[in-house]
Amino acid sequence: MRIIFATNNANKLAEIQHELGDDFELVSLSDLGFKGDIPETGRTLEANALQKANYIFDRYRAPVFADDTGLEVSALDGEPGVDTAHYSGSRDADANIKKLLGELRIKDNRSAVFKTIIAFVTENEKKLFAGEIRGHIAESKSGEQGFGYDPVFMPEGESRTFAEMSVEEKGKENHRVRAFRKFIEFLKGSY
Ligand code: IMP
Repeated sequence: MRIIFATNNANKLAEIQHELGDDFELVSLSDLGFKGDIPETGRTLEANALQKANYIFDRYRAPVFADDTGLEVSALDGEPGVDTAHYSGSRDADANIKKLLGELRIKDNRSAVFKTIIAFVTENEKKLFAGEIRGHIAESKSGEQGFGYDPVFMPEGESRTFAEMSVEEKGKENHRVRAFRKFIEFLKGSY
């Protein structure tokens, strides 16, 4: 079965292809020659993941999935949420972290959750899969690995940030892996 992964991230695609095995052939946006921007105007992760998958489905009429991830901080009423990638007004990870630490300076509750939503769209169905990991936002940055908010996100039960873990360690349990595990199980059981 051929499935489009509505992403330009070659690393993400390779990881999921590895998990899926040979029965499924993942096709990326660049494989399709798609160069534009996919609109992402929803105010929830679910709406954005569905919007991306629907947009590509309407264009290519082939099974497609899209993912969307956000960091929800309790003391900030769930912000940055859908604005996670550009919280500071730019996509610069340092600027985003700086803004987050500033917003939390006078807050006691530093609980946060990373959430990933995957939307799968075919001619016959639309399905959502969710994965999350709870944790808290550290007082300052630690670690050099990873990307995004990794230097300040400490998963529950850990005394290290994601950025202090090896790629393999972070890869064992995180929001994205948990969502993709559910999606892959569904695909293998249904197709
Ligand atoms: P995306 O939907 O996968 O593009 O993720 C949106 C934004 O969430 C990214 O630009 C990062 O800022 C942040 N993000 C997603 N996953 C992670 C993660 O595993 N660690 C740290 N930040 C992440």
